[in-house]
Amino acid sequence: MASNKRLLVLPGDGIGPEVMTEVHRIINWFDHRRAVGFDVSEGLVGGASYDKHGTPVVDDVVDQAMQSDAVLFGAVGGPNWDGLDFSVKPERGLLRLRKDMGLFANLRPAVVFEGLIDASSLKPDLVRGLDIMILRELTGGIYFGEPRGVEEIKPGERRGINTEVYTTSEVERVGRVAFELAGKRKGFVHSVEKANVMESGQMWREDMQALRDREFPEIPIHHMYADNAAMQLVRQPKQFDVLVTSNLFGDILSDVAAMLTGSLGMLPSASLGASDATGRRLALYEPVHGSAPDIAGQGKANPIAMLLSFAMALRYSFDLPEDAELVEKAVSKLLDTGLRTDDIMGNGMTRVSTSAMGEALVTELDKLAV
Ligand code: NAD
Ligand code: IPM
Ligand code: MN
Repeated sequence: MASNKRLLVLPGDGIGPEVMTEVHRIINWFDHRRAVGFDVSEGLVGGASYDKHGTPVVDDVVDQAMQSDAVLFGAVGGPNWDGLDFSVKPERGLLRLRKDMGLFANLRPAVVFEGLIDASSLKPDLVRGLDIMILRELTGGIYFGEPRGVEEIKPGERRGINTEVYTTSEVERVGRVAFELAGKRKGFVHSVEKANVMESGQMWREDMQALRDREFPEIPIHHMYADNAAMQLVRQPKQFDVLVTSNLFGDILSDVAAMLTGSLGMLPSASLGASDATGRRLALYEPVHGSAPDIAGQGKANPIAMLLSFAMALRYSFDLPEDAELVEKAVSKLLDTGLRTDDIMGNGMTRVSTSAMGEALVTELDKLAV
């Protein structure tokens, strides 16, 4: 077989380590049953790193991430660290990895599994067969724009500042990913901004349209305001194929999309950088959800978003699309058996723990692989 693939595993905080434990089962399964070998190393990130090193990610972990073929990331943050200075908050560890690794394209697919139709908060007909891709710009916008901070204007009066900034090249590089993805899917793109109130949004709209006219004339583009897009996502989600948007709007709209699928515990993501001359591309895979402090340590977390994020790594970093599909199919079969974590529990289903869900996935993989 080909040489081992280098995986850096960063479990993080809260339910991060719990859902990551289940990924290890699947990695072992691939190792033993498919002879797909991974060199796995593990590091600290988020609050776990802060507690040991006083910073949410150390340079060495960032270097390791740069040298890995893929990073698997759990979740960071929680009440223990909420009071910290902004510069050392757990979330800053994740933001630094995204920025330093240049992971500008964040793919957040929202796919509804047949077994979970009733777990969605929308009516079955609206979500049955749903398969949309939210593409979130991940290294620009208001998350990183300057100026930022809080300043005192006069005693008792402060000013808090964040700045939305995009350049044409930033819009175009994520736009290209959107059009390329759409070309392999249903073939159309919704570009989402607030061109009606934000200059940067108007520029985003104009640059997206120009890019489409110049390089992708065969792909229809629809422009939509972000507030309307939020409404349309819960009104008629199947009208979308690829929805491309800025960092902040993508953060919000992907949490909305999670509930179409039944739970935030179902949504995976892939964060991708640009390919270099050799075709190598940095990548980080993480569930869309956070560290879920309200259920951490209780064995209640749904590991599927994390497991599907590993499937995305198989597809986008390791060129193993069939193995990715195998994991996705096993998740579908697992849901057909009626096993459910708390978040997706329904009438007549069997409530199980995080680890029982991971074990059951291995059973389904075994069945599919015979
Ligand atoms: P959250 O995503 O952690 O939780 C929101 C709700 O969804 C909670 O009720 C939680 O129990 C539930 N939930 C989330 N994932 C679940 C899963 N896998 N299974 C079952 N239920 C699940 O968001 P929050 O509560 O707003 O944030 C908590 C902390 O996580 C904050 O510190 C936040 O900054 C951080 N956060 C981190 C990431 C990340 O690391 N990528 C993402 C989002 C939030
Ligand atoms: C996400 C999270 C992160 C974000 C936080 C933890 C930095 O909410 O990945 O969706 O806002 O991007
Ligand atoms: Mn988020």
